[in-house]
Amino acid sequence: MSNTAEIKVDGKCYELPLVEGSEKEKAIDIGKFRAQSGIITLDYGFKNTGSTQSAITFLDGEKGILRYRGYSIEQLAEHSSFLEVAYLLIFGELPSKEEFESFKDEITHHTLIHEDFHTILEGFPSAAHPMGVLSSLVTAMTAFYPKSMDPNRSWDEVRLSIIRILAKLPTLAAFSYKNKIGHPVMYPNNKLDYCSNFLHMMFGLPSQDFEANPVVTDALDKLLILHADHEQNCSASTVRIVGSSQASLYASISAGINALWGPLHGGANQAVIEMLENIKADGGNVEKWMDKAKDKDDPFRLMGFGHRVYKNFDPRARIIKKAADDVLAALGVNDPVLDIAKGLEEVALRDDYFVERKLYPNVDFYSGIIYRALGIPTEMFTVMFAMGRLPGWIAQWREMRENKEPIGRPRQVYVGKTERDYVPMGNR
Ligand code: CMC
Repeated sequence: MSNTAEIKVDGKCYELPLVEGSEKEKAIDIGKFRAQSGIITLDYGFKNTGSTQSAITFLDGEKGILRYRGYSIEQLAEHSSFLEVAYLLIFGELPSKEEFESFKDEITHHTLIHEDFHTILEGFPSAAHPMGVLSSLVTAMTAFYPKSMDPNRSWDEVRLSIIRILAKLPTLAAFSYKNKIGHPVMYPNNKLDYCSNFLHMMFGLPSQDFEANPVVTDALDKLLILHADHEQNCSASTVRIVGSSQASLYASISAGINALWGPLHGGANQAVIEMLENIKADGGNVEKWMDKAKDKDDPFRLMGFGHRVYKNFDPRARIIKKAADDVLAALGVNDPVLDIAKGLEEVALRDDYFVERKLYPNVDFYSGIIYRALGIPTEMFTVMFAMGRLPGWIAQWREMRENKEPIGRPRQVYVGKTERDYVPMGNR
């Protein structure tokens, strides 16, 4: 096969290098195309544009494949743990027993946050959405750890910043929830594993002992694994682009949290439950809502359906759908919205509109139902996604830094007014 591609414009041919990935994906490297031709490429929403060559996550949307560092999501969800997956994503290989023990130990010993965080937390009105609070608190970490602001410091210092955010994000998330509901915060308990500790900080009370149900801990761990990375999605690209200006890890992650918040991205998990609740309150007429989703004059979209990359099925959704059944059965929860979700899926999978556009349930369609069964409040769903995605963002940020990638700066085609003379309007 030739290792170049040709682009012909106005009769002139430009030869451009072809790049091939380890899974035989091909790309035309257009990096020097403008310098040669004066022409840029235009691609709204980067639907066909690779922004980097990455060794972290492989995704084949047609075949429904998702692998972290070469390991399938199915095997990781079944056999691994969230912290092991975090290590794999960030450091590139599965940890040995000793490496893993010391990694867990480090994380456990950095879970506490500075007491002054309480003052910041108290400044938020109780109506504040936990995603806004979380992104603010992550930015605030730069104030408590000023050395973290310079990403060019030694690897040991960068590594410490990584450990700190992995350790403290669940604490920040749980503290903001407690603050919102007006309960005293629960300090981290170093005897507990990552997920049990989070549940203890979320649901524990000083006046009574709290022990997480192992079904809940395992389900949470699995959900975090499924969300841990997803290559160059909106929030990962945001993290990389913010980091490319040499902004700090915490500033980049905070930006990622904000990108994730939107309902077309991670915010979909909250939107799905709200949608299912609306359908239930409206009498549960699934067909009526399907018609709304198909009506181009109606802004309503079937939340939790469709994906930019997956065009056959989302492998995470398959695992989550099964987990939803298992978790609800194990906890003895009977949630009527699960039936509505299954009804919607069944109708959508047979409907021409959805079939033609290759729209299938995505990871967020069933995740909210599990979070709800676990007792996680709806507004915290996207925070759970952020906790899961954190290792992916860190891995993407680290790779971008180590590849020495240039500052992210797309071009544009200007379509505004051409030059015109200023006419005083009498406003001075
Ligand atoms: N309901 C109804 N129609 C839809 C939906 C939907 N959920 N998703 C896409 N379409 C239609 C869309 O109207 C368009 O139709 P047409 O070709 O007639 O104009 C066609 O399908 C292609 O849609 P698109 O918006 O061009 O596709 P995209 O790749 O830009 O968007 C998406 C992908 C995920 C933003 C979109 O499918 C969507 O809005 N889904 C609902 C929100 C959601 O569940 N987001 C979570 C994504 S998975 C979690 C994550 O990793 O972020």
